[in-house]
Amino acid sequence: MFVLGIESSCDETSVGIVDGEGNVLSNIISSQIDVHSLYGGIVPEVASRQHINHIQKVCRSALKSASINWSDVELISVTNGPGLAGSLLVGVNFAKGLAANLNIPVFPVNHMDGHIYAAWAKTDKNKLLDFQSSVGEKNITCLVVSGGHTDLALLKNYGEIKLIGETKDDAAGEAFDKVARILGLRYPGGPEIQKVAEKTEEIDKLPRAWMKGTDNFSFSGLKTAVMNKVKKYKNEKNFSSYVPILANSFQESVVDVLFKKTINVALRENSSGIILAGGVAANLPLRNQFLQNSPLPVAIPEFQLCTDNGAMIAMAGLINYKIKNYSEDFDVKPNLRVGES
Ligand code: KG4
Ligand code: ZN
Repeated sequence: MFVLGIESSCDETSVGIVDGEGNVLSNIISSQIDVHSLYGGIVPEVASRQHINHIQKVCRSALKSASINWSDVELISVTNGPGLAGSLLVGVNFAKGLAANLNIPVFPVNHMDGHIYAAWAKTDKNKLLDFQSSVGEKNITCLVVSGGHTDLALLKNYGEIKLIGETKDDAAGEAFDKVARILGLRYPGGPEIQKVAEKTEEIDKLPRAWMKGTDNFSFSGLKTAVMNKVKKYKNEKNFSSYVPILANSFQESVVDVLFKKTINVALRENSSGIILAGGVAANLPLRNQFLQNSPLPVAIPEFQLCTDNGAMIAMAGLINYKIKNYSEDFDVKPNLRVGES
């Protein structure tokens, strides 16, 4: 069995193919970063037009790279939300047209659930951990950190994901992107901040919003704290050598809050393990913090499966198909939340 997953919720056009065992046969990603970085962020209409331009050739090359033909595909899954409406429409329309032509089923995938299920996609670097087979008996705490979301959720069973905490203002990735802009770094800010922060070990301690008594997050105060430091020091001669210190301090603060709040939930909820997913899970200090210091086992998808990609949508499609949790009658849902359909 081959499942073809289509992702076009934001600024990546991607098609991935998994087999019935969840092995990733291909995962082609066409990024629009170069186009949007000219504007310092994503321009929705430009994103939709880029998806239209690229989706067909991305799909062809996913089939080629998996060494299969159109007629070998048995199922199509496609992101229908959350995301930019115009971008989602391109993927959903393409998927429905393809399914009609091939006379096979097509069904929607929640993008956030896709990030979580990326941990099940098998590649040389992605191995299924023991705790993932405990689903149904015990829960798994999932931290999904992306450009649009910072969600803490409990995976109770396949198809049963319960949101328990979220950001009340900026998402973690959004904070990386905005702080990068304040520091004069390029879009997307996450990888840029990580790179610049590697130049120093020095910290100019920044605040943390613990949102005590809740499982929620807040990152806009931290962003303002960085902005205030920039205003204070920008005219000083050695400001350029202060930028890495600020980047490092910002990153340290984000990692600290994400790590401690997630561990707190996982222990409280008696989880069998933790899944760290989404674009910000590509951040090395964040990965290392979880991998080296978590008291519970941790699964983090390999880098290419953290940022938006079609293989995670194919994997989620396969899981939903096995539990029969799908319907062919669907529209785009730009405001879908984790665990919703
Ligand atoms: O999941 P994703 O690819 O797209 C959304 O669903 O939003 O996440 C994109 C976000 C961006 O905000 C980007 O800055 C961030 O992930 N990101 C990172 C890193 N790589 C990507 N943040 C921190 N460190 C990174 N290495
Ligand atoms: Zn995403």
